Amino acid sequence: MAKDPNNVTEMARQSRPIDITDPYDPGWVEGKIILITGGASGFGEGFFNKWADHGANVIIGDISDAQGEALVEGARKRTGNKNHHYIHCDVTSWESQVKFFREAVRLSPTGGIDAVVANAGISDGPPMFDEVPSNLDSLEIPPAPPYRCLQVNLIGVMYTAQLAMFYLARNPTPTKAAENASLQPKPNTRDRHLLLVGSIASLGPIPGQVQYCASKHAVLGLFRSLRSSSFLNGIRINMVLPYFIDTPLIPTSGRLILAGGGFGKPEDVVDAGTRLMADTRIVGRALAIGPKIRVDEDWQLLDPDSTRGTESAVWETHAEDFVEVEVFTRRFIGALNQLERVRGWYGFALDCLVAFGYPLRRLLGR
Ligand SMILES: NC(=O)c1ccc[n+]([C@@H]2O[C@H](COP(=O)([O-])OP(=O)(O)OC[C@H]3O[C@@H](n4cnc5c(N)ncnc54)[C@H](O)[C@@H]3O)[C@@H](O)[C@H]2O)c1
Repeated sequence: MAKDPNNVTEMARQSRPIDITDPYDPGWVEGKIILITGGASGFGEGFFNKWADHGANVIIGDISDAQGEALVEGARKRTGNKNHHYIHCDVTSWESQVKFFREAVRLSPTGGIDAVVANAGISDGPPMFDEVPSNLDSLEIPPAPPYRCLQVNLIGVMYTAQLAMFYLARNPTPTKAAENASLQPKPNTRDRHLLLVGSIASLGPIPGQVQYCASKHAVLGLFRSLRSSSFLNGIRINMVLPYFIDTPLIPTSGRLILAGGGFGKPEDVVDAGTRLMADTRIVGRALAIGPKIRVDEDWQLLDPDSTRGTESAVWETHAEDFVEVEVFTRRFIGALNQLERVRGWYGFALDCLVAFGYPLRRLLGR
């Protein structure tokens, strides 16, 4: 059949929508050299452990030095692989990220980098964007706002993506994503993969989290524009968009605001990211991750024990054009609201209890 010259999907080598029920082998990551920013905690820690355990060589860049070093030491002992490393990296500093990438190349057993995960992120902290200063009357001019969240979540991610473009394109003996699409992945093959970490805040608003939302919308914009040209350098780009997930990113106040809804599980995010990392046939796709729900074809929530519909915690967002994104968002949020209604007051009270107990759980390291 003749190729459609106007088909952007084809031109950008975007792969077909992901069937989450398709099996994949996490062992396909074996031998890859993978860099993770913000790899010392939460999803980054989950990715690190899973990929290290499946034979990848993983290098973490973070500002939590003690945590990152302990993690690497544990994985080296567990796997016997000395090619896992921790390197101090503050993603808000270009120099710090350049040092991270250069050092990673120096330490890499192949001399190259196969994959980069732009994962480091923080939530919006005080003063909030729309907060009016208490000393308003005495102020002549508004104080300069501290844009820490934008610095980490947007500028930091842009730096990481920029450096990924530079170093992935130099990876020796690569298999170009474009030529790779129909091949069954296997371990110990070179790759050029950038995995972006967005959020459900990339698709919809979170009241009060203005900087966070703006930064995560921007990461989606980065994904959507970059994936349409990165194939020129044989680089494949994918993205995960987690809903609220139980990691240290969500403080007690956030947990209380979310009480009664449904939290997602870090292991589902790690599983979705591992599929994208391991299966080199996946190009230009985005997976949203939330609490496991069963929905019918109209995204109406079904009983978890129902034999109808689809049950999953991971959903392809089809974030390929504006219309699809909007339709997906409406359905997904609708299903989550239904979940909240089903869980009712009991769910709300239970989550409040768990949220108040959260500092204690952290203190006890559980
Ligand atoms: N947890 C959620 O509900 C959720 C939902 C959607 C998206 N996300 C995104 O997932 C990513 C990981 O978050 P998490 O939930 O695992 O949180 P986390 O707090 O457990 O991990 C974030 C990591 O980033 C590191 N970091 C922070 N500032 C940094 C900097 N300047 N330079 C380098 N590293 C830095 C932290 O030290 C930490 O190790 C973030 O981008 C976050 O926005 C999280």
